[in-house]
Amino acid sequence: MHVQEAIHSRRTAHSWQDTPVPEEVILKGLEAAQMAPCHRLTWPWRFTLPGPVTRKALFEIGIDLKAAKIGGEVTEEFRQLMVAKMGNPALVVVSQLVSEDAMQSQEDYAACASAIQNLSLSLFADGFHSKWSTGGITRDPRTYDLLNILPSEENIIGFIWAGVPIRVGAAPQRPDLTEQLRRVP
Ligand SMILES: Cc1cc2nc3c(=O)[nH]c(=O)nc-3n(C[C@H](O)[C@H](O)[C@H](O)COP(=O)(O)O)c2cc1C
Repeated sequence: MHVQEAIHSRRTAHSWQDTPVPEEVILKGLEAAQMAPCHRLTWPWRFTLPGPVTRKALFEIGIDLKAAKIGGEVTEEFRQLMVAKMGNPALVVVSQLVSEDAMQSQEDYAACASAIQNLSLSLFADGFHSKWSTGGITRDPRTYDLLNILPSEENIIGFIWAGVPIRVGAAPQRPDLTEQLRRVP
């Protein structure tokens, strides 16, 4: 697939079929992520691939956070919806090395975001959709514990879900480039 086609056709997906993503596709995506630009060569991204035991525990944290939000038990129907969101897709957890220096932190986050985009485009070129998500679960101390990530050393900056979608988000209407492009003499 031409890089322009991948850039323009990639879409965030929100729910997933029970179709596994081959490990080599994930690893190829992570090799693409490794190729991202990185100022001062700090290589600030870390990737964690949770296995089945951790995935199950993360799923329960997701359910727990939802239950806390609605102030009660979640229904069996909702659990099934959550399987399509959190149970079926592959998951890559991306974290960023903590830096004391604000400018370094900013540049490291930019490098991590570039790495994630490379991963997403590589997955897409191999026939799989993805989703970068952040939220309660990416910030929850239980998530850090489960993934063996020390918050003093790394910040979790995204869960990257990947797979064959049931539902792909509608392509958001992007602003016309002229609204965001200015020329100066
Ligand atoms: C840092 C970051 C965090 C995101 N977190 C979420 C999220 O928590 N939930 C979600 O539905 N989409 C999330 N997204 C995806 C955006 O909503 C999505 O990229 C945007 O709607 C544009 O759609 P597209 O990716 O199909 O072009 C995130 C994207 C970025 C860059």
